[in-house]
Amino acid sequence: KSLGIGSAHGKVILVGEHTVVHGTPAIAFPVPGLRVSASVRRHVTGQKGVQPRGVETAVAGALRRWNRDIEGVDVALHCGVPPGRGLGASAACATAAVRAAADLHRVPLDARTLHELVQEGEHVAHGRASGVDARAVAADTPIWFAGGTARPLAVEMDASLVIADTGVTASTCDAVRRVRTHLAASPADRERTLGRAAVLVEAAADDLAAGDATGLGLRMRDFHELLAALGVSAPAVDRLVAAALAAGAAGAKLTGGGLGGCVLALAAPARDAAGLRAALERAGAVRTWSVPLGAAS
Ligand code: PMV
Repeated sequence: KSLGIGSAHGKVILVGEHTVVHGTPAIAFPVPGLRVSASVRRHVTGQKGVQPRGVETAVAGALRRWNRDIEGVDVALHCGVPPGRGLGASAACATAAVRAAADLHRVPLDARTLHELVQEGEHVAHGRASGVDARAVAADTPIWFAGGTARPLAVEMDASLVIADTGVTASTCDAVRRVRTHLAASPADRERTLGRAAVLVEAAADDLAAGDATGLGLRMRDFHELLAALGVSAPAVDRLVAAALAAGAAGAKLTGGGLGGCVLALAAPARDAAGLRAALERAGAVRTWSVPLGAAS
């Protein structure tokens, strides 16, 4: 075989980003419309393309693990996930590339090995990463993520997640550092914040299973307030959150690393998604996407 191929998709975190790095759970959804494809061929050009940080680390780790020549491949990526927007671009690229390397070398790739390899890349790209991105970009269903592992989550809701890009590129690494500093400043506040985060994520899972869009919207608003208090919102994010709520979204919040990036809003019923997207675009979103919750489960 001279060419291996692999793919992955972007993700959004419904609730639980940032606090998940400190041990609380999170809920994430795959975004199948944001696709990454990778091809890996035996080394021919002697040139390495420009790649998101972490991809090379993950692929080199895979080749080392399989006793293959680590200088022996060229990786080409087509990345349909905009980078630096909290949509999991780095994890999706690394996942697609490792899958392509496994295909090239005809090595069976189990979920655990894939996760470990992608996490090696994520640690290069993000500093300390919880692993929620690596799990969500490889998942076919919404996931409940806790303690490094993921399980499929039941969703029974006539609603759509609307994703709106502020156009502001931000560093997840900087945001994660900011949260760590904030939590280290007061042990009492740390305990209160992480406890509250865990309660909100549990409640959101119950809302998803019960089809309670009003409840879920409230959890999303509350989680946005919690993240803003941790210092990872931004004026462009707060503007789109306010615009989504004014347009009738059941809830809205930042998603992913924050400090810019994307806003996630809940359209319920699902047919309201088109109007919500239009309102967010009028309010300055550079791009929007929607993920029907019914189809996501
Ligand atoms: O910004 P993204 O897509 O990389 O999302 C990061 C999620 C965080 O919770 C902020 C970090 C992590 O490692 O879980």
